[in-house]
Amino acid sequence: MPTVLPASRPIPGTGPIDSSPISLTPAPGDDLDPIWKAVVPETRARGNDIHLPISLAYAERLCDCFPEADRLLVRVAIQLHDTGWGRVDEDRILSEGFAGDWRKAAIRFEHERQGCVIAREVLPPLGYADDFVAEVCAIIDGHDTRQEARSLEDALVRDADRLWRFDHAGIALAAGWFRMDPATYTDRLAAEIIPELLTAPAITMATAALDRSRDLLKTAVLR
Ligand SMILES: [Fe+2]
Ligand SMILES: [Fe+2]
Repeated sequence: MPTVLPASRPIPGTGPIDSSPISLTPAPGDDLDPIWKAVVPETRARGNDIHLPISLAYAERLCDCFPEADRLLVRVAIQLHDTGWGRVDEDRILSEGFAGDWRKAAIRFEHERQGCVIAREVLPPLGYADDFVAEVCAIIDGHDTRQEARSLEDALVRDADRLWRFDHAGIALAAGWFRMDPATYTDRLAAEIIPELLTAPAITMATAALDRSRDLLKTAVLR
């Protein structure tokens, strides 16, 4: 069940914050493996096979900080949120989805809609109840295009969706999508993406990862 979204910003967590490199804490367990197996074709689009597992690992960490959150809802929603990219016209992903006013591009709405279609296809045969599937779709629908989060779980998915970009693997992939060099891209992460984070633990994790990535990629001199 979704949890009421706290009013304060950034939202403080109550559990321990792990800001170590995300590669040290892959998402544990194998209960989501049947879902992964069902969406393998959709993970081949737009780097989803990198983005989704790393974002899931961040989502697990955020759930440790917010023990009141519905952990399964957060985990399944982040796992499936971008699978819709696998069902849209590949040529339009970069030309429309990552250029100009990309947040409002039609292809963005389309990948959200398709993500909900996939969740409704994949989850019920694996035994997930209709109410749960509806809660997952409520988070997937609008995850990029809606301005505000509607529940704590929605907020945690939004933050996990952004956090992967601060790791060097995320920078390596996403800088190219935006046609930016790593220095310019990491500057953008600091100026535009950190202010969008909704929770205090996510800001701590993002800042630590960004510092590490900038050092690693020598962005102070390679600019
Ligand atoms: Fe998305
Ligand atoms: Fe995403």
